[in-house]
Amino acid sequence: MRILCLPLVFLLLSELLFVAASSPTDASCSSTSSSDDTCSSFVPSYSLTYFDGRGLAEVARTLFYTTNTPFTDIRLSNAEFRELKRKNVTDLSANLGRLPLLNHSGFVLGQSASINRYLAHQLSIFGSNPSETALIDSIVEHILDMKAAYKSLLSEYDTESDTEFHKAVEEWHSTPPSPLLPKKKNRQLRWYLSFLEKIIPPTGYSVGTSPSLSDAYIFNLLFEFSPSVSYDTERGRMSAGHYFGNYQKTMNVLEEFPNVKKVCITFRDGEGMKRYLDNRGEIDW
Ligand SMILES: *[C@@H]1O[C@H](CO)[C@@H](O)[C@H](O)[C@H]1NC(C)=O
Ligand SMILES: *[C@@H]1O[C@H](CO)[C@@H](O)[C@H](O)[C@H]1NC(C)=O
Repeated sequence: MRILCLPLVFLLLSELLFVAASSPTDASCSSTSSSDDTCSSFVPSYSLTYFDGRGLAEVARTLFYTTNTPFTDIRLSNAEFRELKRKNVTDLSANLGRLPLLNHSGFVLGQSASINRYLAHQLSIFGSNPSETALIDSIVEHILDMKAAYKSLLSEYDTESDTEFHKAVEEWHSTPPSPLLPKKKNRQLRWYLSFLEKIIPPTGYSVGTSPSLSDAYIFNLLFEFSPSVSYDTERGRMSAGHYFGNYQKTMNVLEEFPNVKKVCITFRDGEGMKRYLDNRGEIDW
């Protein structure tokens, strides 16, 4: 089991003690002084269990890092996950026996999108009033639609074949916002981005004046890139390190949508995120 506990999560001691004090299971820590030693048995009140890849846990991880919130980042190998299931010590039913699983001081939650929304509320990055919250929520849905449209486009091609895969990636990136492609029920990247560009202000934040859940989703889908993912691996073949199969093509398209791009850059360059990305190291998927 790989547990990523970068020093940065312990930098904001006041935040840490606040979390500890508010957590029923960490009561033994709440009355201690601010010295680390007196609280050596401290367990962060958030743990996130997933596999050792970005996948369905990466948005949640970035929410923790963006807000400098301590959490235990539990990354299981496939074998460890099977062992966990076999032993039946950890109850995985909150996510129907699957991962990711969030554990907030004993409150266990499954489903990545629900985890993300719960964390956004808890970490105060879900808008400052109901209409901001709803806007953030709606942008998240737009991003999920875009993700689904790409997946659906891939399913129209025989992506086992390199040529077909590249054709799909090319269609996704090069199709203009209009007119619609004949006989296609899905829209492509530029269609989504042209609308997002109108919704998103030029401030570097999709909603409000600070990072929010929708910024995390936008960054995750459009900007996440792992140079260490090899195109030759099974997973790498489909992603080449970037969700849309070709990082450079997506970056070129983003040049046409400066407001969206600025959200990605602002989110990436936030203090906590920057430290996370600088330390994340090689990732396989
Ligand atoms: C796992 O443990 C729970 C109790 O903790 C029990 O109700 C359940 O039947 C067990 N499942 C299996 C497959 O053993
Ligand atoms: C969740 O964390 C609590 C401690 O805070 C622990 O007692 C419990 O077993 C954990 N549950 C799961 C499903 O991991």
